[in-house]
Amino acid sequence: TTLKLIFSIFRFFSLSLRTKLSPSVRAAAVNMSTLLVNRPQYSWLRELGLGEDNDGVYNGCWGGQGQVVTSYCPANNEPIARVRQATMAEYEETVQKAQDAWKVWADVPAPKRGEIVRQIGDALRGKIKALGSLVSLEMGKIYVEGVGEVQEYVDVCDYAVGLSRMIGGPILPSERPGHALIEQWNPVGLVGIITAFNFPVAVYGWNNAIALICGNVCLWKGAPTTPLTSVAVTRIVAEVLERNHLPGAICSMTCGGADIGTAMAKDERVGLLSFTGSTQVGKQVAMMVQERFGRQLLELGGNNAIIVFEDADLNLVVPSAVFASVGTAGQRCTTTRRLMLHESVHDDVVERIAKAYKQIRIGDPWDPNTLYGPLHTKQAVQQYLAAIDQAKQQGGTLVCGGKVMDRPGNYVEPTIITGLPHDAPIVHTETFVPILYVLKFKTEDEAFAWNNEVKQGLSSSIFTKDMGRVFRWLGPKGSDCGIVNVNIPTSGAEIGGAFGGEKHTGGGRESGSDSWKQYMRRSTCTINYSKDLPLAQGIKFE
Ligand code: UN1
Repeated sequence: TTLKLIFSIFRFFSLSLRTKLSPSVRAAAVNMSTLLVNRPQYSWLRELGLGEDNDGVYNGCWGGQGQVVTSYCPANNEPIARVRQATMAEYEETVQKAQDAWKVWADVPAPKRGEIVRQIGDALRGKIKALGSLVSLEMGKIYVEGVGEVQEYVDVCDYAVGLSRMIGGPILPSERPGHALIEQWNPVGLVGIITAFNFPVAVYGWNNAIALICGNVCLWKGAPTTPLTSVAVTRIVAEVLERNHLPGAICSMTCGGADIGTAMAKDERVGLLSFTGSTQVGKQVAMMVQERFGRQLLELGGNNAIIVFEDADLNLVVPSAVFASVGTAGQRCTTTRRLMLHESVHDDVVERIAKAYKQIRIGDPWDPNTLYGPLHTKQAVQQYLAAIDQAKQQGGTLVCGGKVMDRPGNYVEPTIITGLPHDAPIVHTETFVPILYVLKFKTEDEAFAWNNEVKQGLSSSIFTKDMGRVFRWLGPKGSDCGIVNVNIPTSGAEIGGAFGGEKHTGGGRESGSDSWKQYMRRSTCTINYSKDLPLAQGIKFE
């Protein structure tokens, strides 16, 4: 409620500023104005430990001697605050401190590590509104989604606490008498985590919580455009470690750009590099890690489809398609980009979805009424326009949207395009903006084939009541994606399952199920407790 009050005060001031001042006076006012962090309506940023200038390095001590970046609010392009990034020397120092910290952390029993993760989850619960608001302010997603991704971190902490008493390997039957065959799992050591702008909290959380209970230390580089969120999260985590007299470098952070990312990819001391981002950058990262035979976990692009069959419950289809294509302004890796409609329902569904699009409440992302906020950057606005041009050239028809909005910030209209061939180049391209391509199909075989014909393989959904079709969809000739849904949208996965996808999505799995195995190395241990030395395969060597 306090936050709501703050937001409404802010809205009042921003509205009155907009209405009362002429454009030139307004521009001058903006120039004169200080960073948002200095304005009273944003005093809650102080609650997260943020000020005008913030240290972008943490390794037990705070630092940041590198380039200074300013973080901007995508809803109005005003500067929020500044962050001092890491230099290469600070990167080096941080990796060394993280390695030293590992010596301590690896000796802490796994359930005790779980207890620390439990405390991290609790600390996040205490700051969930402020942190969710920061995500909304800095990334541009709506407030409930900002809170939602902090909730994902909280949930994965809970999950990891339980896991900390459950991870283990089997004792397998040995073919030799008096021998034991045991699988032992050990931490990889230092886990490098590079995250994207669109989920600046949750994706770090999935990696961090699981990596920690496995006995790893973490080094995080968040997106250069969401550095304040990285700093705020690290402040919360650091406080827990310090309170427990543990080395802060267990959860290190080096804010930076491609220089730091490249250093992490090439660094032999990074036992696992978990990278979330575009397929293009992911490929470069993958090559650098592979070059040193390092281990990687890649979470790259998606080109996710919803397939609507003739027997689908359209009351589920319409809100699902709208949530998954318009939510987060089309900037989830799980966003629905292709909507395949059976010819018998095509026109009806297009009409209903277009109607719903027109009712989407567009506004400031922190306004509780808003469902749809800005794109994260000005560059994304250009990508949106370019994609619409290409779609038109390739035969598409605009049903709604297609324009940049006349208001401050990076707002574009959510867009529906029909009439494109299923294999038009633009349909096969992931543009990280709210454009939905609607395709018309006739048969199940055709629809499943179209789902699978793109390079990416992240998420996919069908809407049907036909049980046979459901199991064909889940089976070997069904969806080739990592996430295969029925009667729910492509986005909004729970943390309990393994999250990730195939092909150009990179093949990594994070979060729940047995994803923890990616953060550990397996040793097959054979122990002879007899007085004889029988050899396997019955070999006699005498
Ligand atoms: C992402 O877009 O990078 O399934 C992650 C979802 C969210 C996570 C998305 N739980 O949409």
